[in-house]
Amino acid sequence: MMKEIEMKSVNKFYKSDVVALEDFSLTVEEGEFVFVTGRSGSGKSTFLKLLSGQIFPTSGEMWVRGSNVSALTREQIPYYRRQFGIMQADLGLLKDQTVRQNIELAMRATEQPLKRTKRRVEQTMRVVGIADRAEHYPSELSGGEAARVLLARALVTDPKILVLDEPTANLDPSAAWDLMCLIDEINRKGLTVLVASHNRELVTIMKKRVVTLAAGVIVADEKNVIYSSTAGDIFDERRVLREREERRRKQQRR
Ligand SMILES: Nc1ncnc2c1ncn2[C@@H]1O[C@H](COP(=O)(O)OP(=O)(O)O)[C@@H](O)[C@H]1O
Ligand SMILES: [Mg+2]
Repeated sequence: MMKEIEMKSVNKFYKSDVVALEDFSLTVEEGEFVFVTGRSGSGKSTFLKLLSGQIFPTSGEMWVRGSNVSALTREQIPYYRRQFGIMQADLGLLKDQTVRQNIELAMRATEQPLKRTKRRVEQTMRVVGIADRAEHYPSELSGGEAARVLLARALVTDPKILVLDEPTANLDPSAAWDLMCLIDEINRKGLTVLVASHNRELVTIMKKRVVTLAAGVIVADEKNVIYSSTAGDIFDERRVLREREERRRKQQRR
């Protein structure tokens, strides 16, 4: 299997003193399905934004599909980002555009011929099961349908890596489960998938690799998780913060 993502001792600090990720090392193989879990503020979104080139590391090395992300030029960054299909809360649907138009808009940056775009949009709407809602506006959709439109928008550009930040946040348990099964099917077709979620029950039931973060540090990385061993992450968080504080004090004394 090819190494799809390799992060080596990556640090991400916001405003120089907010530690969002610390000494973060992680390898993901091509075609893997990885859950990223942890309490609010543990660094899940920061990790996914770093990966998809929305923000950049403070230090450390990051390789994605053979390219060194830190070495990308300004001109290369948009192409780098195109490898990702992204679903995150701050990338919502345009309210005054139909489902079809919202998905088509995502294709614009790829500069495909119109005919191909139309065909690809049609095909993607079928894959996620919203073809019969194509001419509807976002306000006319259920939570589960809206989430599937967001997924279609992430998929339509034919990305290599899907990055989904809390995709089930606004869904009831049954719609959340449906969406997860759909994401699982898409992963089985060969896409690498990373899902940030603090829904422990859902994460556990999927039996995937689970990376648990606490205060910006990886505290567990488990394959085929079938029971929740992450219940201790509140204690992990306290420990990580305490150790960080001790290190900081030691450095000041020097
Ligand atoms: N743009 C930002 N500026 C300053 N601090 C930030 C910013 N984004 C996130 N943080 C901080 O970084 C830490 C990790 O946040 P985040 O990655 O959003 O965690 P999660 O997604 O797990 O809730 C938190 O302490 C948060 O307050
Ligand atoms: Mg988040």
